[in-house]
Amino acid sequence: MWILSEDTFDPAKQHHKETIFTIGNGYLSTRGAFEEGYPNDRRATFIHGVFDDAPIVVTELANAPDWLALHVLLDGEKFSLATGTILAYRRELDLQSGVLRREVRWQSPQGRVARLIFTRFASLADEHLLALRCEIIPEFDGQVELRAAINGQTDNEGLLHWQPLTQGQLTDGTVFLRTRTRKSRIELALAMRLLGNAAQTAFWDVENVPTVQQVYVARAGQPIVVTKFVGIATSRDTAAPLELAHRHLQATPDWESALAAQRQVWAREWERCQIVIEGDDEADLAVRFSIFQLLIAAPRRDNRVNIGAKTLSGFGYRGHAFWDTEIFMLPLFTYTAPEIARNLLDYRYFTLPAARAKARAAGYEGAWYAWESADTGEEVTPTWVPDFHDKKKLARVWTGDLAIHISADVAYAVQQFWQATGDDPWYIERGAEIVLDTAKFFASRAEWLAERGCYGYTDVIGPDEYHDHVNNNAYTNLLAQWNLRAGLETLAWLDQHAPQKAAELRRQLDLTPDRLQHWQTVAEKICVNVGANGLIEQFDGFFQLKDVNLADYEPRTKSMHEIFGIEGANEYQAIKQPDVLMLQFLLREQYSDSQIRVNYDYYTPRTDHTYGSSLGPPIQAIVACQMGDIAEAYEHFIRAARADLRDVRGNAGDGIHAASAGGVWQAVVFGFGGLRIHPDGTWAVYPRLPSHWRRLTYRFTLRGTTHTITCYPNGHYTMG
Ligand code: BGC
Repeated sequence: MWILSEDTFDPAKQHHKETIFTIGNGYLSTRGAFEEGYPNDRRATFIHGVFDDAPIVVTELANAPDWLALHVLLDGEKFSLATGTILAYRRELDLQSGVLRREVRWQSPQGRVARLIFTRFASLADEHLLALRCEIIPEFDGQVELRAAINGQTDNEGLLHWQPLTQGQLTDGTVFLRTRTRKSRIELALAMRLLGNAAQTAFWDVENVPTVQQVYVARAGQPIVVTKFVGIATSRDTAAPLELAHRHLQATPDWESALAAQRQVWAREWERCQIVIEGDDEADLAVRFSIFQLLIAAPRRDNRVNIGAKTLSGFGYRGHAFWDTEIFMLPLFTYTAPEIARNLLDYRYFTLPAARAKARAAGYEGAWYAWESADTGEEVTPTWVPDFHDKKKLARVWTGDLAIHISADVAYAVQQFWQATGDDPWYIERGAEIVLDTAKFFASRAEWLAERGCYGYTDVIGPDEYHDHVNNNAYTNLLAQWNLRAGLETLAWLDQHAPQKAAELRRQLDLTPDRLQHWQTVAEKICVNVGANGLIEQFDGFFQLKDVNLADYEPRTKSMHEIFGIEGANEYQAIKQPDVLMLQFLLREQYSDSQIRVNYDYYTPRTDHTYGSSLGPPIQAIVACQMGDIAEAYEHFIRAARADLRDVRGNAGDGIHAASAGGVWQAVVFGFGGLRIHPDGTWAVYPRLPSHWRRLTYRFTLRGTTHTITCYPNGHYTMG
C-alpha cells in the first residue's frame, strides 16, 4: 500500500490532514495546506537549521515564506474550497514517490465549473528545488487567471521571524525574494519560475509577496497546465543564497524531468528499507507512512541539524530534538541508511561544547546533553508552559533540569551505530568522545548514598514523566552504568586500535587512572532496587505510591496526568510510558525472559497506553512480542501506527509523532519480525507474526551487508 488518500474534505480535520499530507526532502518540509489557502489553515514550511529566537521556547524553526501560494480565478471568481460547491474531491500522497496530488471539481458561486489538479513535491533529487503543477480543465469558455507568489508574510502562530531584504525579477524572468530571520540573521532566498502557455504574463512587485500573474484563454475541455518551480537556499548553505537558488532553478528544464528524477531517487531510497506486510493493508500502509515521514525529515547533506520530535511537519515542540531521535528514530537509519544516522550523530558531536557547558553550569563534569536541543545544542526546554487545567496558569517544566538520561541515550545510539556499521574511523574520530564524555558526566553526577552503600542519582526524571524529582530511577541508573562501562571499554579499545587518539582523549578529557577507577566503582555499585523475582522498582519508593487500576477510569479521553494533575500524578503508580520495560528493551542482553515477564506483568496495567506518551506503545509492542503476547502486542502496535493517521491522541495537527513513527518501524522489525542483534554484531530472527499477517518482509543492513528477511506465520523465515 503506497497511497494515503481522502475522498472528502472535512474542514474540522484540516490541521490533522495538513500534517499527514506533509511532503519534504530532508532539507525542508511543507505541510499539506492548500495552494490557494483555506481559512484558519496552518500552512508552514520548515527548513532544517533555520531557527530564530522566540519567547518562552527560546528558539524555534521559523515558518519559511510560503512557496505554494497559487490563486486561480475563473472569469474573475477566486477558486476556494471555502466558497462555491465541491463537486468532487480527492487527495493522494504517493509515498513511493513523495508526490502529493489533489483533484477537485468545483463550481464557483456564479456557476462556472472546472476540474483542478494540483501536484507538488519537494525534490529529493535536488534538495533546493520545489515543484508544483496546476492543471485546470475548464467546463466553460472564458478566462482563467493565475497568481503565483512567494509569500514572505508568514509567521509562527503570530510571531514574526522574517525581515524582508530585497525582491524583484531577474532578466530571465525569475522572480525572487530575499529575507532574513530577525535575530539569528539567517538569510533565505527563494526564486520562482512559472512555465505555461499564458496569453499574458505580468510581474506584480507586491511588497514581500512578489507575484507573477498569468492570463489564459479558457476553452471548455481544454487543459491549462502551469508549472511553478521554486529554488530555495539559505546562508547556512552558501554565502550567496539567491545565486544558489537561481542555479537550481536554471538547472531544471521541465516538470517531466524533475518528476522522473524524483521517482528515481525515491525508488533507491525505498529499496534499502523495504517492508511488506501481507494480510494487513492498514499496517502495511502505516509502516510505510512512518518510514516516509522520517525519510523526508532526515538530513542527507547536513550534519549540524537533528530531527525534531515533530519532524519538520508542524509547530509542536518548535523543531526541538529530544531523546526521541536516538532511541526511537535512529535505529531505522542505523540499520537501513547509516549515512543519515551518522549525520544525526555528528550533530551530537558538534553540540558537545554546549553539553559540556550545561554540565559545568550545574557543577558537573563531562557532557550533559540538553533535554531539548536546537541549533547550538544549548538547553532550550521551556521552563514554564501553560498548565493543562487552566491555560492562564503556568506549570513548571522540569525535564531540562532533571532528565539526565538523555546523555546515556545519545551514547547508546552512538554505540549501536558503531556496532551496526563497524565504522571504526567515525567512532575513533567522533563517537568515542561522546561515549567518554557522557560517562564522565555520569561519574561526576553520581552520589554516594552512604545509608544504602551504593551510588545513585537523586532528583531526576526518567522516561515516565508523570513522576518528577525522583531518586534512583532504574532506567537512568542502569543506562548510566551501561554508559560508564561503555566508556571504559571504549578507552581500552582505543588503546589497542587508535593509541594516539586514546592518548589525545585521555589528555583532553583528563581521564586519569583515578578517574577511571571511579567510573568502575560507580558502575559496580550503582543503586537498583530489584526484588528476588526480578521485579525492578521504577524509582525509590515507587511501590509505596497509591496503586491505581487504570481500568476504573475508562472510558476516558484524557491522560492520567490531566486527571490527577501534575502534583497529584506523583502520588500514584500510573505511568506515562513503560520506563522499566524501555530499559529492558535497550539492555535486552542483561535480562532473561522471565525477568522481563515479571516487569511486563507489573508495569503494563499501570501504564497510560492511550493518552500517556506516544513513545510508549511501540516499545510496549516489542516487549509484548518478546513475551509471546502477540495479540496484545498488536494492540499496542496499531495504536502507535494510528497515532497520526487516525489522530488517536487528537494532537496530530501539531506535527508528526516522530518517535512513534520510528517506534512503528522497530515494532515491525524487532517485534513481529523478531530481529535480534547482539552486541557482538551477530544476529538472529524469531518471527512472531500477528495471526492475520500472511507474510512479513523486511530489510536491514549490518556492516555493509543488506539482508532481506521474509517471515511466515508458522515462525519460519527465509533469508534473501
Ligand atoms: C515525552 C517525552 C518525549 C517528548 C517529545 C513527552 O511527552 O514524555 O519522552 O521525549 O514528549 O516527544
